[in-house]
Amino acid sequence: MAIVELERQGGVAVLRMNNPPVNALGHALRVDLEKHLNEALADPAVKAIVLTGTGRFFSAGADISEFSLGVREPHLQPMIGRIEGSDKPMVAAINGTALGGGLELSLGCHYRVVGKDVRQLGLPEITLGILPGAGGTQRLPRLVGVEQALQMITTGAFIDAVKAAKIGLVDKVADGDVVAEAVAFARGQIGNPPRRVGAIVIDKASIPAGLFDKARASVGRHPSGPVAPNAAIDAVEAATLPVAEGSALERKAFVETNSSPYARALQYKFFAERQAANLPGIGPNVRLRDIKTVGILGAGTMGTGISLAFLNAGFPVTVVETAQEALDKGVARIKETLEANAKRGRITEAQANDRFAKLTPSLKMEDLAQADLIIEAVFENLALKKEIFAKLDKIAKPGGIIATNTSTLDVNAIAAETKRPQDVLGLHFFSPANIMRLLEIVRAEKTAPDVMATAMAIAKKIGKVGVQAGVCDGFVGNRMLHAYTSEVYAMLLEGAMPREIDGAMEAWGMAMGPLAVGDLAGLDVSYRIRQERKLTGEAAQFARIPDKIVEMGRHGQKTGAGFYRYDADRKRQVDPEIEALIRAEAEGLQIKQRHVPAEEIVERCLLRLANEGAKILEEGIALRASDCDTMYLNGYGFPGWRGGPMWQVDNVIGMKAAAEKIKAYEAKYGARWRIAPLIERLSKEGGTFAALDKSRRAG
Ligand code: 3HC
Ligand code: NAI
Repeated sequence: MAIVELERQGGVAVLRMNNPPVNALGHALRVDLEKHLNEALADPAVKAIVLTGTGRFFSAGADISEFSLGVREPHLQPMIGRIEGSDKPMVAAINGTALGGGLELSLGCHYRVVGKDVRQLGLPEITLGILPGAGGTQRLPRLVGVEQALQMITTGAFIDAVKAAKIGLVDKVADGDVVAEAVAFARGQIGNPPRRVGAIVIDKASIPAGLFDKARASVGRHPSGPVAPNAAIDAVEAATLPVAEGSALERKAFVETNSSPYARALQYKFFAERQAANLPGIGPNVRLRDIKTVGILGAGTMGTGISLAFLNAGFPVTVVETAQEALDKGVARIKETLEANAKRGRITEAQANDRFAKLTPSLKMEDLAQADLIIEAVFENLALKKEIFAKLDKIAKPGGIIATNTSTLDVNAIAAETKRPQDVLGLHFFSPANIMRLLEIVRAEKTAPDVMATAMAIAKKIGKVGVQAGVCDGFVGNRMLHAYTSEVYAMLLEGAMPREIDGAMEAWGMAMGPLAVGDLAGLDVSYRIRQERKLTGEAAQFARIPDKIVEMGRHGQKTGAGFYRYDADRKRQVDPEIEALIRAEAEGLQIKQRHVPAEEIVERCLLRLANEGAKILEEGIALRASDCDTMYLNGYGFPGWRGGPMWQVDNVIGMKAAAEKIKAYEAKYGARWRIAPLIERLSKEGGTFAALDKSRRAG
């Protein structure tokens, strides 16, 4: 079947794009579209043209994989110019998702008819570190107003058909067959002068005073980094110029932003997240288990968050606790969160009520007998979890999946308590579980392939990025985190103050510095783990500062103090008492403190993360380097525009330089800096993590 088909319906030519899976506007599609467009424009029997897509997609936009290679002609922007310039009425029949270049194609048409169920209309280019490059920054403001367009373009947010009609993005919402309605609409326009969006003149007086300055002032910590957001604002501002001038400016900015390392990083993130869903040896033909109902054991911090994640995705949830008080507390927290979301306008009140109505609280584990998926989220205690899994084995339905949310315990040992270890796995959510996008899917020794595939599909259904990890202490994410925090504690003793460490990491782009994260998560959690582990040597030395802080009753934000002091609105304040404590500890250990420069702080944090990631990769605990990055980008506040620790080594630090630096640190600090054999090997071979990932995919 051709990628673009031309069908004649009387005097109306219907151009249908059909390029699965998402109708991306790759080179072959553009060639075909141009050919058929020329044919329809030249044919005197064609009086009007309708442009549409196939299935769920009008078009998801440009083919992102072309951006790093160089986009070949025909280019989209001039093609859209020709569509707009046509004297024959051009109507977009937006049958499904229209994003980026897809939406821009429709903006080049004189009119837009959209299916009533379409939910994804937008210009998400900013999330890829670029700006719309096919006229979107020029035409959208002309159609929906500068303020609305600026908001859509700088956030990349999607809107649905109803909102699109409300703001004037589309001319008609089709109740029935969108193509038939668009054809009828086009017929009605034959003989009328075309309505060219590019010809609309924006009344400058309609732009709220200071709009662009305000927008520029707010892009400081934009998730797309420092380049694309400002370029996008400049381009929208240029929409008051004639369309040709504004488009030329947009084109230049598109090329510039796309050549920045931030665009490379964000586009890598896009594909890395999708790659994570591919499980080697588990093909698309594996039959997924049917998950309709979910049971959660434990209604504490994680149990309530996980319940919310499933309720928000429409699943009925049964949540089980041991005591009425704990159950009531958990249920109240779920209710409050849903109500708060409704108050903030994120969901409607009716949605909040519907979701809450799907929650069944219980004190009986037997009530989980009908659940297709059970997730255990009780205290972090191996004996308790083993006991619970032995019980669940007797209660859970045959073929039901039983998961543990443990963050440190051995999932193989937990699975061994059941007679069905093939149905057991780890589903490691991150706190707050209803918000954080990462779901670490822990594949135990005996976990069945269809259970893994089902878990991956469920992750997507509840809006998470699922990433496989093997069983080891800390799995992937927390094992890397452990290396990172141990370096941070070492730097405290060397003389870097919390404000300097967090300041350096935040200035570099981390959402929060590592010590501030500790205060947020609660310092008592890692304290308890350290106590159980009875640390010795260097590890015991590094633990002294955080241990003393906890022993002072400072458990972090929840007690008003940790590495910092917190005022009533939880704003952190530097605490001289903690700085004095750090100095005293160093003195006690006869460490002569020094100023640790910000660049060194960042470098040591990144290299410890990547070195541990490389070890994990080599042990087969992580499947790909890009999976390590995907975890850090979605679960640990690593900025997308920095690509992740492994990406940094490949693209910024360089494998060879990384190996040399790690060895130099090893010579200075000893065993904790032992170089990952994989980094050593790749540096000698001139290899990269990306090339390794690719070769494993091919193999
Ligand atoms: N280019 C290339 N591949 C794309 C793509 C695109 N624009 N959009 C999706 N894909 C691929 C995915 O990589 C995935 O491939 P895989 O199966 O090999 O892993 C496959 O299509 C299916 O994608 P999803 O798993 O994401 O499918 P969903 O149904 O969950 O989501 C979607 C669909 C909402 C369209 C989502 O894929 C998406 O957000 N795509 C990107 C949209 C976008 O950013 N468009 C703007 C592109 S830039 C542009 O247009 C520039 C212009 O201004 C010139
Ligand atoms: P929590 O202490 O807030 O909640 C645990 C809940 O389990 C309590 O309400 C308790 O009453 C309940 N419970 C205990 N035994 C039970 C039983 N037999 N049946 C039913 N309920 C029972 O703990 P939290 O933080 O929610 O942690 C739960 C699990 O999630 C732990 O394994 C933890 O390691 C893991 N985890 C925690 C994260 C966090 O940030 N808090 C992050 C990721 C995982």
